Amino acid sequence: MPKEIQATTTMDKIVSLAKRRGFIFPSSEIYGGLNSCWDYGPLGVELKSNVKRAWWKANVQERDDLVGLDASILMHPRVWEASGHLEGFTDPLVDCKNCKQRFRADHLETEKCPECGGELTEARNFNLMFKTYMGPVEENAAVVYLRPETAQGIFVNFQNVLTSTRKKLPFGIAQIGKSFRNEITPGNFTFRTREFEQMEIEYFVKPGQDEEIYERWIEERFNWYIMLGINKERLRLRPHDPDELAHYAKGCSDIEYFFPMGWSELEGIANRTDFDLKRHTQYSGNKLEVFDQETNEHYIPYVIEPSAGADRATLAFLLDAYDEEPDKNETRVVLRFHPALAPYKVAVLPLSRKEPLTKLAKEVNRELRKHWMTDYDEAKSIGRRYRRQDEIGTPYCVTVDFDSLDDQAVTIRDRDTMDQSRVAINDLVSVLSEKLGF
Ligand code: GAP
Repeated sequence: MPKEIQATTTMDKIVSLAKRRGFIFPSSEIYGGLNSCWDYGPLGVELKSNVKRAWWKANVQERDDLVGLDASILMHPRVWEASGHLEGFTDPLVDCKNCKQRFRADHLETEKCPECGGELTEARNFNLMFKTYMGPVEENAAVVYLRPETAQGIFVNFQNVLTSTRKKLPFGIAQIGKSFRNEITPGNFTFRTREFEQMEIEYFVKPGQDEEIYERWIEERFNWYIMLGINKERLRLRPHDPDELAHYAKGCSDIEYFFPMGWSELEGIANRTDFDLKRHTQYSGNKLEVFDQETNEHYIPYVIEPSAGADRATLAFLLDAYDEEPDKNETRVVLRFHPALAPYKVAVLPLSRKEPLTKLAKEVNRELRKHWMTDYDEAKSIGRRYRRQDEIGTPYCVTVDFDSLDDQAVTIRDRDTMDQSRVAINDLVSVLSEKLGF
């Protein structure tokens, strides 16, 4: 019997913690919110930036075969003709004739409305791209689209990057940025939204090497989540069936996470073949190819694309870090973030709110914040303050007590083990740096 997998918590608990502690707020809340739009608060912006930074570090900083890019969101409308999005980036949509709700036809299990049992309309294809106008006149000639994937910004810059960096194949271009899709059924908190951030790599290879490199990227990307603390049991790989492949892909595998609503896509790794570079060559008239000095031939590279969502990954890290344990008559809630992802790395807590303790604690905090994001908290009992830091995932608390004034030492308390150790203030930065790993 396969072991039953458990989600760490419910989505409701995470939504509530995220709001209460300043990770994620509903967008435009004072006006009643805007469906499926979310704002990252003071802790959320740290967490999401840390996720993006970790991705950039692993893929750009630590590798010599990838370079970065930041392309614009608005692109020439011909891009979307060439990419196939104008024609093919659609979902089948049905309306309920009774309650007027809309559904994706391919997500329905019955032919009736799942909400009220009413009759549904025929399915029609609905393009997911957001349309807008460039300039003051709202006419057809001025139509532009908000990009539905960051990938195309990479393809159209292929020649620019190749020429300016003189990279040789295989090499990749990495990009993090916003994408927009007018999703029919957004939901599950930040899992599916209409505005979201992607972290995408287009890795260019010689045709024939594509399948091996595709497998390597799947392994690489799978391990990245584990390295940053996601429990292996809640991750799995799901190769796509041929009938669910995107219009550009020869193969695709999803890395799935066990979200509270069940197994769902976290990242897709696709073999896009030479589809995009070939189409942009056709549509733009510019040859997007490389020259092979060994064979004296020009060819269009194949592309392996690991494509992740920054918001979806942030949600998975948040969910996976969640833990509850009994604590006397209460419950200790802990976010067991990997130190690289934790919004605050250290919290400085004076035992009392009085001088001269607070003066020394503030000095300690001033020194630590040169190195890491820190929090300073002097409100309520020390036990309460530890719990508050546990709940936002701060790996270490530094307590400044009355003895600190005499011995110039402080106590470091570990979030996970709750162990405490005494350290000289002069050694604090190096000790914490060793514990955090950076
Ligand atoms: N360039 C390929 C591409 O865009 P995708 O599977 O449609 O592939 C890649 O998207 C990743 O982007 C997904 O695995 C997911 O993490 C994220 N993503 C896609 N649509 C999203 C949405 N509506 N809301 C949040 N994240 C989304």
